[in-house]
Amino acid sequence: MAGTGNQIVEVSTKPFVGQKPGTSGLRKKVAVFQQPHYLENFVQSVLDVLIDRGEGGPGKTLVVGGDGRFFNRQAIQTILRLAAANGYAKAIVGRDGILSTPAASCVIRGRKADGGLILSASHNPGGPEGDFGIKYNVAAGGPATESLTNAFHARSETIERYRTLDGKPEVDLGREGLTTMGAMAVDVIDPVADYAALMETLFDMEGIAGLFREGFTMRFDAMHAVTGPYAVKILEGRLGAAPGTVVNGMPLEDFGGGHPDPNLTYAKELADLMMSESAPDFGAASDGDGDRNMVLGRGVFVNPSDSLAVLAANAELIPGYRGRMTGVARSMPTSRAVDRVAAKRGWECHETPTGWKYFGTLLDAGRVTLCGEESFGTGSDHVREKDGLWAVLAWLNVIAARAQTVEQILFDHWANYGRTFYSRHDYEGLDAEKAGALMDHVRSLDLKGRALAGVPVVLHDDFSYVDPVDGSRASGQGIRIEREDGARLVVRLSGTGTEGATLRLYLERYEPDSTKHGQGAQEALADLIRATRDLLSLEERFGSETPTVIT
Ligand code: G1P
Ligand code: ZN
Repeated sequence: MAGTGNQIVEVSTKPFVGQKPGTSGLRKKVAVFQQPHYLENFVQSVLDVLIDRGEGGPGKTLVVGGDGRFFNRQAIQTILRLAAANGYAKAIVGRDGILSTPAASCVIRGRKADGGLILSASHNPGGPEGDFGIKYNVAAGGPATESLTNAFHARSETIERYRTLDGKPEVDLGREGLTTMGAMAVDVIDPVADYAALMETLFDMEGIAGLFREGFTMRFDAMHAVTGPYAVKILEGRLGAAPGTVVNGMPLEDFGGGHPDPNLTYAKELADLMMSESAPDFGAASDGDGDRNMVLGRGVFVNPSDSLAVLAANAELIPGYRGRMTGVARSMPTSRAVDRVAAKRGWECHETPTGWKYFGTLLDAGRVTLCGEESFGTGSDHVREKDGLWAVLAWLNVIAARAQTVEQILFDHWANYGRTFYSRHDYEGLDAEKAGALMDHVRSLDLKGRALAGVPVVLHDDFSYVDPVDGSRASGQGIRIEREDGARLVVRLSGTGTEGATLRLYLERYEPDSTKHGQGAQEALADLIRATRDLLSLEERFGSETPTVIT
């Protein structure tokens, strides 16, 4: 019976090449996802694997939501039809199809769902010409591990049919409450409530509200992405920040034409404001799906590696972490500033490959409490994703408890632990073959014992990792070149881009002398930067050695 919207139908299909999830899910141009059967194939591949493992399908609950970018709503309807046709008992969906990545993780955990599909290409531009993405998070709330994403990919290469409902029924995503899709229950929920309630349990909300009552000023740039409704509700609604504190707070399908990545290049307006005479006390921004954060004080930018170290050092001031810090973890290219805090406190400290998924086992095992990446990702064991607004609230909590400015907090931290000057230089849109050749070249160099900017190299390897909890291995995770004085260069290629290749260079140098802590990072790293560009022959290889983004 066609057209009833309740009949399960099997549609025959053929595999698409390249449905291979990268650092964070499957990301492609919107046009790729819009091809007939493309999304259905991938979702069915995911569901087939989950059903085989007893983690999906009959009797199970699936969370679905996204960052609101173009194609989000349509994709959600497609996913709901497939979930229903594959026997799911229930789907939990954010109203209007909205769930930030950390909120999705919070909902999966809090409502004891069996997993979730999150629709996002994070900070990549949106709109019909932009990017779209989809990733699966497991019942613990975190991104699927590599063995799972490899299984999705393998399945997508042999898929011959998918199950859906005929008549293309749709759920009214604008109305909260219970409804159905075929035989599956669908609960359309307030996308903010669960998350806001979780934040209440972690932070000294009264202390932060007191800060705002005393006239503390802030700007939060939501970059027309998903965090707007969360930030308005929590910062302005709950904590009493002045109306208008949140700017660009309305999520737009194309993010207002912007590039919703909170860094000094793409959140330039905020950065400029914070460096100007009229800067508020505190500035922050978040990305497309709400998991990244950038924080700034009046006249200072807080490097994300430093942010992790400062939050770890001050965790005792935050009620949700007082007395329960066990360890910290950072991705390999993240600066080693946090290692110094861990060493002083006697905590475990882990260096993991790039990507949040590598923190999951450590968080689940209770071996780390806070973790972070240099790529503007900071988080904790409260969910299994990095969390932009969480980091902002954590900073506000620390500012309120210490009654200091961001600048004072930073300089105090450096005075205690020394400063790790740090910068990442990105080269976007490179020819993929040439970028691959560069990586082969750097790998093949025998640098140990040779000098880099005058100081001998003591370590030169391609980072590999053995997970201390489950023993799983990852190799080829980026080239580390470390000097005798502790300065370090890391070279790797991005795994999240959708066009050509992006080369990332990560540079750091430790400076214990506090009379030198006022220097700018680029200045402090100038020798290392020069030596790196020469070592890699960037000018000869790519016709330019000027990065497209510097953070
Ligand atoms: C980038 C970041 C990485 C982060 C990922 C997802 O991945 O470098 O730290 O986990 O985005 O937000 P990359 O493009 O470098 O593979
Ligand atoms: Zn993101």
